[in-house]
Amino acid sequence: MASVITVNLPQQSYEITIAPGSLNRLGEYMGDLKLGHKVLLVSNPTIFQHYGQRAIASLQAAGFEVVHHIIPPGEQYKTLNSIQKIYDAALANRLERSSTMLALGGGVIGDMTGFASATWLRGINFVQVPTSLLGMVDAAIGGKTGVNHPQGKNLIGAFHQPSLVLIDPDVLQTLPVRELRGGMAEVIKYGVIWDAELFAQMEKSKNLSQLRYIKAELMDFILTCSCQAKADVVSKDEKEAGLRAILNYGHTIGHAVESLTGYTQLIHGEAVAIGMVAAGQIAVQLGIWQSEDTQRQDALIQKAGLPTKLPADLDIDAIVDALQTDKKVKDGKVRFILPTQIGVVEITDKVPANTIRQVLADMKPSA
Ligand code: GLY
Repeated sequence: MASVITVNLPQQSYEITIAPGSLNRLGEYMGDLKLGHKVLLVSNPTIFQHYGQRAIASLQAAGFEVVHHIIPPGEQYKTLNSIQKIYDAALANRLERSSTMLALGGGVIGDMTGFASATWLRGINFVQVPTSLLGMVDAAIGGKTGVNHPQGKNLIGAFHQPSLVLIDPDVLQTLPVRELRGGMAEVIKYGVIWDAELFAQMEKSKNLSQLRYIKAELMDFILTCSCQAKADVVSKDEKEAGLRAILNYGHTIGHAVESLTGYTQLIHGEAVAIGMVAAGQIAVQLGIWQSEDTQRQDALIQKAGLPTKLPADLDIDAIVDALQTDKKVKDGKVRFILPTQIGVVEITDKVPANTIRQVLADMKPSA
């Protein structure tokens, strides 16, 4: 059975369809959108090997002319140089204004294909077929696209909404377990910031750390609630004028930890998990969140096989300094998203530096 969630936007609303086996019907779903007949499918070698031919066969059966372009895997290829190569493929294959770039892959492929589609011929159609849990619940939805600058992540980008997000949960079967756990961090985030029922259902599951422990109905619930949460927030605040910042829960300290460990020691979701533990403790220290609730959050993070402690060699002053360079700093003040109940958060720039230091010190692993 398919779940369909609408992202309601003033310029271009679109649907997120979640349906097992839907990759085989990609052509039918795209056929309903009245797009031009040329499609440039962008993927990485592993994903393309698993799913590329199925996607292409389905598109061709629906009358699309498909070409593909493969980008090597990894965040280190999320660069303007890779975008140039997508443009070269678009030019060689004479993509037109009515043509579509289709991202078949995780967040890196989605962000880059989105940015190329936002800028080629000043913007062409874009379709997201995410294959990682992080892509399904977060990166594929919302229209933020972009690449990294050598000095920082996602510093170059554009808002460009997809025409469709098609989620086939069956493709999670081939997702490496660490990536599944990383995506689960964002799911836990939605439980804390937006959806207490999602949080409660995850609490009922004995184990969230591997796909085989997660019942199909729970995975369906997780995908549907997470996509609904993201769609609700983006529909209310497409360009991050206010509310959308709550999606950065756990990302303030998470980004600092990620950048100080060179983006290699931890994957994004692991850094976000650490950031959520820190934000929860800060909220408790400020007296706005109950310590029982932060314990419930941390238990869920552990159940998903995610870290709750800082890397041992990380210097606390370095983390506090790195907070100042985050994209979310406004007028020199570091903005935190802090929970007040499970399912409710507030945005504040009034967290004393001493509180941050104390919480981080308590998160050092014991020797
Ligand atoms: N593309 C991810 C977002 O807009 O949040």
